[in-house]
Amino acid sequence: AWRSRLRKRLLDWFGENQRDLPWRAKSDELRPDPYRVWVSEIMLQQTQVATVIPYYERFLDRFPTVTSLAAADEQTMLSLWEGLGYYRRARSLHAAAKVVCEKHQGTFPDDYTDVIGLPGIGRYTAGAILSIAFNQKLPILEGNTQRVFSRWVALRAAVNEKPVSNLLWQLAEAMLPPAKPQARGPGQFNQAAMELGALVCTPRSPRCDLCPIRGMCKARIAGLEQTIPGKVKQ
Ligand code: ADE
Repeated sequence: AWRSRLRKRLLDWFGENQRDLPWRAKSDELRPDPYRVWVSEIMLQQTQVATVIPYYERFLDRFPTVTSLAAADEQTMLSLWEGLGYYRRARSLHAAAKVVCEKHQGTFPDDYTDVIGLPGIGRYTAGAILSIAFNQKLPILEGNTQRVFSRWVALRAAVNEKPVSNLLWQLAEAMLPPAKPQARGPGQFNQAAMELGALVCTPRSPRCDLCPIRGMCKARIAGLEQTIPGKVKQ
Protein backbone atom coordinates (compact mmCIF):
# COMPACT_ATOMS: atom_id res chain seq x y z
CA ALA A 1 0.00 0.00 0.00
CA TRP A 2 2.85 2.42 0.81
CA ARG A 3 4.27 1.65 -2.59
CA SER A 4 1.14 2.72 -4.41
CA ARG A 5 0.91 5.80 -2.19
CA LEU A 6 4.44 6.79 -3.11
CA ARG A 7 3.76 6.21 -6.81
CA LYS A 8 0.59 8.25 -6.68
CA ARG A 9 2.28 11.19 -4.99
CA LEU A 10 5.20 11.11 -7.38
CA LEU A 11 2.99 10.82 -10.48
CA ASP A 12 0.64 13.58 -9.29
CA TRP A 13 3.64 15.82 -8.67
CA PHE A 14 5.06 15.01 -12.12
CA GLY A 15 1.73 15.82 -13.76
CA GLU A 16 1.82 19.27 -12.20
CA ASN A 17 5.52 20.08 -12.29
CA GLN A 18 7.21 18.42 -15.24
CA ARG A 19 9.21 20.57 -17.61
CA ASP A 20 8.10 20.95 -21.17
CA LEU A 21 10.99 19.21 -22.92
CA PRO A 22 11.18 18.69 -26.69
CA TRP A 23 11.50 14.89 -26.46
CA ARG A 24 8.43 14.42 -24.31
CA ALA A 25 5.08 13.34 -25.79
CA LYS A 26 3.17 16.11 -27.53
CA SER A 27 -0.23 16.97 -26.12
CA ASP A 28 -1.98 14.89 -28.80
CA GLU A 29 0.20 11.82 -28.18
CA LEU A 30 -0.02 9.25 -25.44
CA ARG A 31 3.60 8.25 -25.94
CA PRO A 32 6.51 9.84 -27.73
CA ASP A 33 8.21 8.45 -30.84
CA PRO A 34 10.91 5.91 -29.79
CA TYR A 35 13.43 7.47 -32.15
CA ARG A 36 13.00 10.85 -30.46
CA VAL A 37 13.35 9.30 -27.00
CA TRP A 38 16.41 7.39 -28.11
CA VAL A 39 18.25 10.45 -29.49
CA SER A 40 17.40 12.42 -26.33
CA GLU A 41 18.66 9.71 -24.00
CA ILE A 42 21.94 9.38 -25.90
CA MET A 43 22.51 13.15 -25.81
CA LEU A 44 21.57 13.29 -22.12
CA GLN A 45 24.02 10.55 -21.11
CA GLN A 46 26.89 12.93 -20.37
CA THR A 47 25.30 16.31 -20.95
CA GLN A 48 22.95 18.63 -19.05
CA VAL A 49 19.35 19.12 -20.18
CA ALA A 50 19.80 22.85 -20.90
CA THR A 51 22.81 22.19 -23.12
CA VAL A 52 21.13 19.34 -24.96
CA ILE A 53 17.91 21.16 -25.99
CA PRO A 54 19.22 23.30 -28.91
CA TYR A 55 21.37 20.46 -30.22
CA TYR A 56 18.47 18.10 -29.98
CA GLU A 57 16.19 20.42 -31.93
CA ARG A 58 18.72 20.95 -34.72
CA PHE A 59 19.46 17.25 -34.92
CA LEU A 60 15.78 16.29 -35.14
CA ASP A 61 15.08 18.97 -37.75
CA ARG A 62 17.84 17.58 -39.89
CA PHE A 63 17.23 13.90 -39.13
CA PRO A 64 13.56 13.50 -38.25
CA THR A 65 13.50 9.70 -38.65
CA VAL A 66 15.76 6.68 -38.12
CA THR A 67 15.89 6.24 -41.89
CA SER A 68 17.10 9.78 -42.49
CA LEU A 69 19.80 9.35 -39.83
CA ALA A 70 20.93 6.01 -41.26
CA ALA A 71 21.28 7.62 -44.69
CA ALA A 72 23.28 10.58 -43.36
CA ASP A 73 26.88 11.15 -44.19
CA GLU A 74 28.97 10.70 -41.04
CA GLN A 75 30.67 14.11 -41.26
CA THR A 76 27.35 15.93 -41.56
CA MET A 77 26.01 14.05 -38.58
CA LEU A 78 29.15 14.76 -36.51
CA SER A 79 29.03 18.45 -37.42
CA LEU A 80 25.59 18.68 -35.79
CA TRP A 81 27.08 17.05 -32.68
CA GLU A 82 30.00 19.48 -32.56
CA GLY A 83 30.14 21.03 -29.10
CA LEU A 84 28.27 18.24 -27.31
CA GLY A 85 31.42 16.15 -26.99
CA TYR A 86 31.75 12.41 -26.45
CA TYR A 87 31.62 11.82 -30.20
CA ARG A 88 31.61 8.08 -29.70
CA ARG A 89 27.95 8.50 -28.73
CA ALA A 90 27.23 10.04 -32.12
CA ARG A 91 29.08 7.33 -34.04
CA SER A 92 27.27 4.60 -32.13
CA LEU A 93 23.92 6.29 -32.71
CA HIS A 94 24.63 6.45 -36.42
CA ALA A 95 25.74 2.79 -36.52
CA ALA A 96 22.65 1.75 -34.56
CA ALA A 97 20.37 3.68 -36.95
CA LYS A 98 21.80 1.60 -39.79
CA VAL A 99 21.11 -1.62 -37.88
CA VAL A 100 17.51 -0.52 -37.20
CA CYS A 101 17.07 0.09 -40.93
CA GLU A 102 18.70 -3.13 -42.07
CA LYS A 103 17.42 -5.53 -39.42
CA HIS A 104 14.14 -3.89 -38.42
CA GLN A 105 13.01 -2.13 -41.61
CA GLY A 106 13.45 1.30 -40.06
CA THR A 107 11.05 0.62 -37.17
CA PHE A 108 12.62 0.94 -33.75
CA PRO A 109 12.43 -2.53 -32.12
CA ASP A 110 10.27 -3.07 -29.04
CA ASP A 111 12.04 -6.20 -27.85
CA TYR A 112 14.57 -5.75 -25.05
CA THR A 113 17.03 -8.26 -26.53
CA ASP A 114 17.05 -6.43 -29.87
CA VAL A 115 17.37 -3.02 -28.23
CA ILE A 116 20.18 -3.90 -25.81
CA GLY A 117 22.15 -5.34 -28.73
CA LEU A 118 22.31 -1.98 -30.54
CA PRO A 119 25.57 0.02 -30.47
CA GLY A 120 25.65 2.61 -27.67
CA ILE A 121 22.63 1.21 -25.82
CA GLY A 122 23.09 -0.24 -22.35
CA ARG A 123 20.67 -1.24 -19.63
CA TYR A 124 19.76 2.33 -18.75
CA THR A 125 19.07 3.51 -22.29
CA ALA A 126 17.17 0.35 -23.26
CA GLY A 127 14.99 0.70 -20.15
CA ALA A 128 14.40 4.39 -20.80
CA ILE A 129 13.34 3.93 -24.44
CA LEU A 130 11.18 0.86 -23.83
CA SER A 131 9.47 2.28 -20.77
CA ILE A 132 8.95 5.84 -22.08
CA ALA A 133 8.06 5.05 -25.70
CA PHE A 134 6.44 1.59 -25.28
CA ASN A 135 5.32 1.69 -21.66
CA GLN A 136 7.17 -1.55 -20.91
CA LYS A 137 7.76 -2.42 -17.29
CA LEU A 138 11.52 -1.89 -17.21
CA PRO A 139 13.50 0.04 -14.58
CA ILE A 140 16.03 2.77 -15.18
CA LEU A 141 18.87 3.92 -12.99
CA GLU A 142 20.97 7.01 -13.69
CA GLY A 143 22.41 9.82 -11.64
CA ASN A 144 19.11 11.36 -10.61
CA THR A 145 17.29 8.17 -9.70
CA GLN A 146 20.29 6.73 -7.85
CA ARG A 147 20.16 9.72 -5.55
CA VAL A 148 16.38 9.77 -5.18
CA PHE A 149 16.19 6.07 -4.31
CA SER A 150 19.25 6.16 -2.02
CA ARG A 151 17.72 8.98 -0.01
CA TRP A 152 14.31 7.47 0.07
CA VAL A 153 15.61 4.28 1.78
CA ALA A 154 18.51 6.05 3.57
CA LEU A 155 21.16 3.99 1.83
CA ARG A 156 24.42 5.61 2.92
CA ALA A 157 26.84 3.76 0.67
CA ALA A 158 28.39 5.28 -2.44
CA VAL A 159 26.23 4.52 -5.47
CA ASN A 160 29.13 3.44 -7.65
CA GLU A 161 29.87 0.31 -5.60
CA LYS A 162 28.64 -2.71 -7.50
CA PRO A 163 26.52 -4.33 -4.74
CA VAL A 164 24.93 -0.93 -4.07
CA SER A 165 24.11 -0.40 -7.70
CA ASN A 166 22.61 -3.91 -7.89
CA LEU A 167 20.43 -3.12 -4.91
CA LEU A 168 19.29 0.18 -6.44
CA TRP A 169 18.40 -1.53 -9.73
CA GLN A 170 16.29 -4.00 -7.74
CA LEU A 171 14.61 -1.17 -5.90
CA ALA A 172 13.95 0.73 -9.13
CA GLU A 173 12.35 -2.41 -10.55
CA ALA A 174 10.26 -3.14 -7.46
CA MET A 175 8.83 0.38 -7.47
CA LEU A 176 7.48 0.29 -11.02
CA PRO A 177 3.73 0.51 -11.45
CA PRO A 178 1.99 -2.04 -13.68
CA ALA A 179 2.02 -1.25 -17.40
CA LYS A 180 -1.78 -1.30 -17.60
CA PRO A 181 -2.79 2.28 -16.91
CA GLN A 182 -0.87 3.72 -19.81
CA ALA A 183 -0.89 7.31 -18.59
CA ARG A 184 0.52 6.40 -15.17
CA GLY A 185 2.58 3.41 -16.13
CA PRO A 186 6.31 2.61 -15.92
CA GLY A 187 7.33 5.25 -18.48
CA GLN A 188 5.68 8.03 -16.50
CA PHE A 189 7.05 6.68 -13.24
CA ASN A 190 10.63 6.56 -14.55
CA GLN A 191 10.43 10.08 -15.91
CA ALA A 192 8.83 11.33 -12.69
CA ALA A 193 11.66 9.88 -10.58
CA MET A 194 14.29 11.51 -12.85
CA GLU A 195 12.41 14.80 -12.79
CA LEU A 196 12.23 14.76 -9.00
CA GLY A 197 16.00 14.27 -8.89
CA ALA A 198 16.56 17.08 -11.38
CA LEU A 199 14.22 19.65 -9.81
CA VAL A 200 13.80 18.85 -6.10
CA CYS A 201 16.02 16.04 -4.84
CA THR A 202 19.16 17.76 -6.09
CA PRO A 203 22.72 16.72 -5.17
CA ARG A 204 23.32 19.67 -2.86
CA SER A 205 20.65 21.43 -0.81
CA PRO A 206 17.71 19.24 -1.82
CA ARG A 207 14.43 21.15 -1.63
CA CYS A 208 12.65 18.78 0.70
CA ASP A 209 9.97 21.39 1.43
CA LEU A 210 8.76 20.93 -2.16
CA CYS A 211 9.05 17.13 -2.23
CA PRO A 212 5.87 15.09 -2.70
CA ILE A 213 7.36 12.09 -0.87
CA ARG A 214 9.16 13.84 1.99
CA GLY A 215 6.90 12.15 4.53
CA MET A 216 8.14 8.74 3.37
CA CYS A 217 11.78 9.66 2.86
CA LYS A 218 14.05 7.87 5.33
CA ALA A 219 16.97 10.22 4.69
CA ARG A 220 14.81 13.24 5.38
CA ILE A 221 13.32 11.69 8.52
CA ALA A 222 16.82 10.94 9.82
CA GLY A 223 18.13 14.36 8.76
CA LEU A 224 20.58 12.71 6.37
CA GLU A 225 19.45 14.25 3.08
CA GLN A 226 22.71 16.20 2.78
CA THR A 227 24.98 13.21 3.43
CA ILE A 228 23.23 10.62 1.25
CA PRO A 229 24.30 9.28 -1.20
CA GLY A 230 27.75 8.60 0.21
CA LYS A 231 30.87 10.10 -1.32
CA VAL A 232 32.17 8.28 -4.34
CA LYS A 233 35.73 7.06 -3.72
CA GLN A 234 37.92 7.59 -6.74
N1 ADE B 1 18.01 12.85 -17.99
C1 ADE B 1 18.17 11.67 -18.63
N2 ADE B 1 17.04 11.30 -19.23
C2 ADE B 1 16.13 12.27 -18.98
C3 ADE B 1 14.78 12.47 -19.33
N3 ADE B 1 14.14 11.58 -20.08
N4 ADE B 1 14.16 13.56 -18.87
C4 ADE B 1 14.84 14.44 -18.12
N5 ADE B 1 16.09 14.33 -17.75
C5 ADE B 1 16.75 13.25 -18.18
